[in-house]
Amino acid sequence: MLALHGGASVRGGRAWPRWPQYDNRTAAELLAALHSSRWSVTWYSPRGGKSRERLFGEAFARYNDAAYGISVDHGSSALVIALEALGIGPGDEVVVPAMTWVAPATAVLRVGAVPVLADVDPDTGCLAGDELRAVVSPRTRAVIVVHLACTAAELDDIVAVTGDEGLALIEDCSQAHGTRWAGRAVGTFGAIGVFSLGAAKSLAAGEAGAAITDRRDLYERMLMLRADSRAYTEGAPAAGEFELVEQATVMGANYCMSELTAGLLLDQLPRLDDQHALREARAKDLEAGLPDIPGLERIPVPAAVDRRAVYEYGIRLQPGAFGLASVDQVAAALTAELGTKVYPPRDPLHRSALLRPQTKPRFARRWAEAVERATGRDFTGADHYRDHTLLMHHSVLLGERADIDDILTALDKVRTHAAALDPKGLA
Ligand SMILES: Cc1ncc(COP(=O)(O)O)c(C=O)c1O
Repeated sequence: MLALHGGASVRGGRAWPRWPQYDNRTAAELLAALHSSRWSVTWYSPRGGKSRERLFGEAFARYNDAAYGISVDHGSSALVIALEALGIGPGDEVVVPAMTWVAPATAVLRVGAVPVLADVDPDTGCLAGDELRAVVSPRTRAVIVVHLACTAAELDDIVAVTGDEGLALIEDCSQAHGTRWAGRAVGTFGAIGVFSLGAAKSLAAGEAGAAITDRRDLYERMLMLRADSRAYTEGAPAAGEFELVEQATVMGANYCMSELTAGLLLDQLPRLDDQHALREARAKDLEAGLPDIPGLERIPVPAAVDRRAVYEYGIRLQPGAFGLASVDQVAAALTAELGTKVYPPRDPLHRSALLRPQTKPRFARRWAEAVERATGRDFTGADHYRDHTLLMHHSVLLGERADIDDILTALDKVRTHAAALDPKGLA
């Protein structure tokens, strides 16, 4: 009997790998930030030297082979300053994939532009070149492409379209820290790469974000946009000096990352590659067993990806793989078997309950334009992805090979008992 219906669960209550991962070194980094008495880059440097948030920005740029990196308080803020740095505002349209978190769309509204939703590939949930081309208009200035869950958007196609159409490309890599495409880190293929470093992300610091770019002009603008028009001193500040110098060239806001958060990230970043390697090994174990379960497949990964970073591991369901049961029912049954959350993707943006710009007067008119731009178009790719994908947090891949056996056993068990999930099959 399924655990959902009172049967014994596959996992039997055994624990999963803990996330986030930390140890005494993490505690030492945090304490060092605490004792520095410098909790913010906006505060002066009591002992001199660069702030931790500046050091993290530099280290994160190096990690991604980018020229410049900027630390911010959230991925959402990174999106806003990226758009602002590119000069996007009222009268402009920005293409956003229908399958993503709300932030790419709300960031476009926050700078006064109109988010134009584009359908996505039904198998990967990512924007593809054809869907992008289909929604470009004379008002389109930029596109935010999102590398989703455990794969990457077809960057060669996207870059070809942005090149043809003269659009700025922002890569949202919040779910793909360290993914590499043909030898280069994602986030470096367009003008700016943005990252959320939120608690669940594969590089996590609770609430945090970052942006990377190779362009000096965009770097300098983003620095000021995120620190109320202040940029760094040329080198490290001397003891007792401020590190942020007033430039007063743009209207900015305060999206600065706290020094305590930056300390956490300086501890976490050097761990990321080993974690990626372990997740990839476990993903391969899972993918070795998946073909034995009819109707289940891995999410396709473009051939040009030479390292995939997993944020949420996705399994693709062939229609009917679990009989008439919905993906939500299957996910609930698997969660009960495994004692860790298995879930479908969130609803796509064209029907997301979280996307409510009409509730704020300053966004309502532009949102009405966005809705009108979406009228008459369908989002069958996004809908298909939503209804035929199972996701698991990347931390389930940070343990033993036996964990993978449990996942495979649970998938097989739920599939075998799928009729019990079908409301019509419940006697
Ligand atoms: C693709 C994507 N973009 C942006 C964000 C927003 O990041 P944050 O929550 O750090 O503001 C997220 C967060 O989950 C995300 O997944």
